[in-house]
Formats: sequence, C-alpha cells, structure tokens
Amino acid sequence: MKKLALILAIVMMLGMLTGCGGNDAKSDKLVVATSPDFPPFENLENGEVVGIEIDLLNIICEKMGKELVIEQMNFDSVLPGVQAGKFDLGASGISVTPEREKNVLFTDPYCLAAQAIVVMADSPITCKADLEGKSVSVQTGTTAESFCMDNGYTVNSFEANSDAQTALTTGKVDAWVIDDLTAADMVKVYNESNPGALVILDEAMTTEPYAFAFSMKSEALVAEINAILVELVKDGTVAEIFANNNAPYTQPQLG
Ligand code: ARG
Repeated sequence: MKKLALILAIVMMLGMLTGCGGNDAKSDKLVVATSPDFPPFENLENGEVVGIEIDLLNIICEKMGKELVIEQMNFDSVLPGVQAGKFDLGASGISVTPEREKNVLFTDPYCLAAQAIVVMADSPITCKADLEGKSVSVQTGTTAESFCMDNGYTVNSFEANSDAQTALTTGKVDAWVIDDLTAADMVKVYNESNPGALVILDEAMTTEPYAFAFSMKSEALVAEINAILVELVKDGTVAEIFANNNAPYTQPQLG
C-alpha cells in the first residue's frame, strides 16, 4: 500500500511539473486561459471552443511548433490566473488598460473594439447621455464593469454574459454594456427568436484595444509571441481571420 501511495505521489508531482501553465519556453504546449462566452472571439460550439482568438492562437502555435491547450473559466478568473503564472497566457477579448498593465504583460494590440450600449427597442435611452443615473448589467471583472462603476451608473454584475443579457430582457436593468462585436453577435441571435427586441445604440461607451495577457515573469514568451502577432496583423492574416468569422475588423496603430 505504501509503495502504491508513493508511486501515486510521484505520478502526481510529475503531472504538476509537466501538466500546465508555467513559463517554460521549452514546453511543447501553450496553455491559454479563456472565458468562452464571448463570440466571435471565443465561444462554445458543440462543446468545442472556437472563434477569432482560437484561430489566431492556432496559427501562432503552428509557427512556434507548440500545441494549443485551452483552459476554460469565468472571465474574472482569467487575469488573476495569468498573473499567478497558472497559464501561459490569457486570451479573452482582453482590453489593455493602465490598471491591468500594473499586473500583467500585454502583447501589442491586434484589434480595436468598443463598449456598446444595448437597450430594449422601446427604451427611452437613445444615446450615452440618456443613460445617466440609470442601471446597467455587465460581466464581472470586465472593463464595462469598471467603467460603469467609475461613472456613477447603478451596476449589476454577472459572471456570465448571457445572464447580463437576461437582466436586460427581463427588465431588471435599463441597459446592458458589452463589447461591440460580442453585442452584435449575441443581439443577432436573440433577435432571431425575438425580432427587433434588442437594439445596439450607435454611440459607444468607450473604445479599447484587445491584446493577449501574460505573467510579469514571461518577458521572453511575450516577445516571441508578439513578434509573430505583429507580423500577422501586418500581413493581413488577422483581418482575414475576422472575415472568416464574419466580423468587421478595426486594425490598431502599429508600433
Ligand atoms: N474587453 C472586456 C475586458 O477586457 C471584456 C472581455 C470579456 N471577455 C470574455 N471572454 N467574456 O474587460
């Protein structure tokens, strides 16, 4: 029995050493933390994580000769996990902010996004100013949450984007604040069964660049991946990936 326990302990330790995360440049795996509730960037399709960032990471992994390993979690666990070195990187439509830059390293941005305001079609809210003093639903840990908190809105936070959407459609909040491309995707799906129900306002709340996030200790890995990423932006591959995922692409300023 003792022998068995010892063998088990050794196997477990080996598993921990080789299994996940870390910043081992020699590892043949790239472990990415993601919250797959964010179409078209990452979404579950028949139990599989698919989307723009997955396509992009698969190309990056191919160039690095690594295998992509996807770890799924709620969005508010992605950055803390990356910061603690549990995963090689975070890819979750993560907006670069000065606050986050204190805790993680970012690649250059690969696209520009915005925070959209979604309301019910019969809402009196038609622009950002109308939203003053109103209640909003947001996803926990997002820039939508921090922006709305900092700007005096009554904020209802939800772990899952779908629950933030339901808060709006069931009349619990006046508006739902969420990244523009995901808003477009989720509103389209909702309106397919509820024609014209949800409306995305023309005026956005904020604009934000997306990038991949790494632990502060992963300087070499960030540099390696960033060089590949910038090339993929420059040569039009990123634009092509967006097109393949039926999403409009806004390229950020390079360099
Ligand atoms: N861009 C926003 C942020 O960085 C929201 C990202 C949400 N991502 C997700 N996979 N649910 O805070």
